[in-house]
Amino acid sequence: MNGVKILSVAAQRPAAIVSNNEMIGDLDTDDAWIQARTGIRTRGVANDEETLLEMSTGAASKAIAAAGIDPASIDLTIVATSSNPIVTPGIAPPMTARLGVSSGAFDVMAACAGFCYSLNIAADAIRTGSARNVLLVGAERITDRMDPTDRNTAFLFGDGAGAVVVSATDLANDGVGPVVWGSDGNLADYIHVPVGEKYLHMDGQGVFKWAITKVADIAREACEKAGIAPNELAAFIPHQANLRIIEALARNLKLGENTVVADDVRYAGNTSAASVPMALTRLKEEGRVQTGDPALLIGFGSGMTWASQVIRCP
Ligand code: UT7
Repeated sequence: MNGVKILSVAAQRPAAIVSNNEMIGDLDTDDAWIQARTGIRTRGVANDEETLLEMSTGAASKAIAAAGIDPASIDLTIVATSSNPIVTPGIAPPMTARLGVSSGAFDVMAACAGFCYSLNIAADAIRTGSARNVLLVGAERITDRMDPTDRNTAFLFGDGAGAVVVSATDLANDGVGPVVWGSDGNLADYIHVPVGEKYLHMDGQGVFKWAITKVADIAREACEKAGIAPNELAAFIPHQANLRIIEALARNLKLGENTVVADDVRYAGNTSAASVPMALTRLKEEGRVQTGDPALLIGFGSGMTWASQVIRCP
C-alpha cells in the first residue's frame, strides 16, 4: 500500500464577477435578501470563451505547475462535473490532450459531491498502485443550467474550476483520510434537470433541511475514521452551497476556536463540483491554511449524494 498526498491545488475563476444587483434583472428579489439567506455577494459567470474545457484546462495547468511534476508522469486524470454540454466524450480526454498528457481519463458525475467522490477514487488508485500521479479537476459551467426567471435558483450558482495533483508517498506521510460516502436516491427529485429540459429544478427548502439534519453526522464520521476530533481541525471546507448551511454545520460540529471555515460561496456562489477545490485555493491564497494542516472536506448535492474525508492541506 502507498500513502497518498495532495501536492497542489489551484483554481480558474471566470473573468466576470457579477454582483447581486447586476444579476437580478427583472427577478423579484434583492441584494439584501440574497445576502441574508445565502451569504452570496457575487458569483463568477463564464463568458463564451470560458468553456468547461477551457476552465478545466486552466485550473489543471496551474495545479501541475504548482506541484512541479512532469505532466508526462500523470497516469490518471479525473474531471468531476455535471455541466458538460456534450454527451460524449467527457471533459477529461480532450483536457489531457491539451496538457500533453495521455493518461487514463474519465469524468465523474456525482453533482456537488463529485470532487470528494473523485478524490477517494484517486486515492484508492494510488494506494493500490494503479496510479502514482493523479490529476483531479472539479469544474462547472452551471449557470448555463439556470433559468434566469427562476428566483429559486438564478442567484445561487456560479461557474469555475478547481484542480489538485494527488501523488503517491510513504504511508507515514499519508494525507488523504478514509472516505465516508453514500447516497439517497429517494430524494433524486430535490435537484434535477428533467428529461428534454435545459434548466435545473430545485426544492430549495428540501435541500436545506436535508443538509442541516444529515450532513454534520457524515462529517463527524469522516473525522472519527481519520482519528481526529472536529475541534482539532485547522480548516472545515464543505461544499459551498449556502453560507447559512455552512455556518449551521460548523456550529453542529463544534469546531475549534481556531478552525477556519471556508466561505468562497460569498464571492463565487455555489460552484457545485468545483466548490471544494476552489474554496481550498482561496484559503491557501489568503494564507488561512498552511501546508500539512488537517482539513475536513465534505461534498453533498443532487442525488442526493455525499462524500467526506479529512486531508492534509497541500
Ligand atoms: O448544492 C446544493 C444546491 N442547492 C442548495 O444548496 C439549496 C439549499 N437551499 C437554499 O439555499 C435555500 O432554501 C434558498 C436560498 C434556495 C431559499 O432560502 P430559504 O431561506 O429556504 O427561503 P424560503 O424558500 O423558505 O422562502 C422564505 C421567504 C418566502 O416568503 P414568505 O413566505 O416568508 O413571505 C419566499 O417567498 O422568502 C421568499 N423568497 C424570496 N424573496 C426574495 C424566496 N425566494 C426569494 C428570493 N428573493 N429569491
